Amino acid sequence: MRLKSAASPDLARRKASGAHYTPVPLAHFVAERLLKLTKRRVDAPLRILDPACGDGVLLEAILGCLRSAGKYRAEVYAVETDEQALEAAQARLSRFEQANLHFMAGDFLTLWRIREQQYELWETIPSSADLPEDFDVVIANPPYVRTQVLGAERSQALAERFGLSGRVDLYHAFLVAATDALRPGGAIGVIASNRFLSTMGGSSVREFLARHYDIDEIVDLGDTKLFEAAVLPAVFWGRRKQNDSKRGPRRPARFIRVYSETQASKEEAESLPAYSSVLEILDDAEPGRYRLPEGIFSLARGELAIDQNPKQVWSLATPRESDWLSQVRKNAKGCINDIAAVRVGVKTTADEVFIRSDWDDLPIELRPEPSLLHPLLRHEDACQWALPQGFQPSIRVLYPHEIINGRRRAVDLTRFPRAKAYLDAHRSRLEGRQYVIEAGRQWYEIWVPQDPLAWEEPKIVFPDISPEPRFYLDSSGSIVDGDCYWITVRPGISHDAIYLILGIANSHLMSRYHDLAFNNRLYSARRRYITQYVAKYPYPDISSPVSQEIIATVKQLVRRVRSRGNDEEARATRKRVDDLVACAFDVQSEKEV
Ligand SMILES: C[S@@+](CC[C@H](N)C(=O)[O-])C[C@H]1O[C@@H](n2cnc3c(N)ncnc32)[C@H](O)[C@@H]1O
Repeated sequence: MRLKSAASPDLARRKASGAHYTPVPLAHFVAERLLKLTKRRVDAPLRILDPACGDGVLLEAILGCLRSAGKYRAEVYAVETDEQALEAAQARLSRFEQANLHFMAGDFLTLWRIREQQYELWETIPSSADLPEDFDVVIANPPYVRTQVLGAERSQALAERFGLSGRVDLYHAFLVAATDALRPGGAIGVIASNRFLSTMGGSSVREFLARHYDIDEIVDLGDTKLFEAAVLPAVFWGRRKQNDSKRGPRRPARFIRVYSETQASKEEAESLPAYSSVLEILDDAEPGRYRLPEGIFSLARGELAIDQNPKQVWSLATPRESDWLSQVRKNAKGCINDIAAVRVGVKTTADEVFIRSDWDDLPIELRPEPSLLHPLLRHEDACQWALPQGFQPSIRVLYPHEIINGRRRAVDLTRFPRAKAYLDAHRSRLEGRQYVIEAGRQWYEIWVPQDPLAWEEPKIVFPDISPEPRFYLDSSGSIVDGDCYWITVRPGISHDAIYLILGIANSHLMSRYHDLAFNNRLYSARRRYITQYVAKYPYPDISSPVSQEIIATVKQLVRRVRSRGNDEEARATRKRVDDLVACAFDVQSEKEV
């Protein structure tokens, strides 16, 4: 991850190699904390490894800290595939003449002879002759290259070599190899995407870290924009366990979380303590809100709650927040998934063919039959509670599926000659979607067609990414696009439940719950709303008087917003919904817990 102002390799190269360099102040922050964790061996130089050193900023920081502490004996190994970067590192570190410096051009994953019995898996026998074992310290900002960029074949090979599961990222493999390079008791400081903390895909990394490390601290740098990379960074410090085991940590790990705040008013912002940089508040500020040149940030400190089950995300909650979460869960009847299905919208994988606003402008012989064209609700349409009366999506999707005898299937195109002519005109584009053909599907099908019968039911629709909850009711039978999600109640559940879910999902309380339980904020205070999270929202007993009141109030609010928009009365009713939801879970409704 690279600081915006620093010179960086060109974008395409950077994307492929995951080269976003660490800004100098952050490098110091990581190095200082890492050295506090490090225990030296008697009479031996400190053996330090950066397995993907880039231009050497992390090594410069750690050597600088050692020098300031009057300690010089260090043996440093810097590995890097990019020879230009390695030369830059060499130049940068040349002032540390007392350190014993080794620069190695090459792929660390190949250089590191992880698990000797797996030699046969490598294309070439790795030469690790120059790379010693038993490092005291690993400092790293490994390349972050996701499965999509790595390609399926390379991901698969990495997964096999490094015993990884789920979505493999290059940094997972680096963690495994770097851990192997570290002596038991050795210390690691790693900068990575914060996604491993809070996503299902991160479970193999969570399990690996908990098994091999006494975790000392995690700092979730949230949307502080310290990097230009699209991912949000977190820093992890830990000491390799003496015996890799499932044993829990000796003491709970510390965590710090810093995220931007969007809701502070100007007067409020001016009353907050001012700091000049994020790293300054990370160093010594109490939990609270702070004014920085780039905006208002809120800082939380606490202990990391690590669930024994790696499938569970690691929650970064303060004791107060943890109590609040438990209270909400204790008063819940279950989670939304018990009473409703939460699904993503349709994914055509050829939107330019299936989704248009100008169907009516096509020549009549190419204009698909109206019964196959359906209004499509998209991200841009999203709002809170309800769409305005008379709203019509401007876009329609050509939906070539139907239900016959309770089963979904592709329509028989001979019954729809105009749709057939239109699709035939795009046949080569559609047949180019090889995965559709390989899945035994018709060439003109859309990739994720969902359940056509369920469109007709009353449903809640919401966009996948939004700064605030934008759940709204739709009873028009419209289809939902793949950049949104939708909720329908399960068979046998009263349709009133849809209003209860709508009230809960849009409430302040649930935004707070979402942040604390899933910790998945994106840049600019946006949240990711996906099945994985929304299906886990708690709900109160639907038959309780307060739930019944929520249902009645939300019905009233939906009617109001539909006919008059979000006027003052709607806002007052919304406040009432917030209070009722808080009452249903028996907690405070306000954001500050
Ligand atoms: C995120 S950058 C970090 C660089 C540096 N450690 C820093 O903190 O600024 C990751 C670096 O890993 C290098 N890299 C990518 N794949 C590598 C591999 N297989 N072995 C060694 N280095 C690699 C990239 O060229 C890039 O310089």
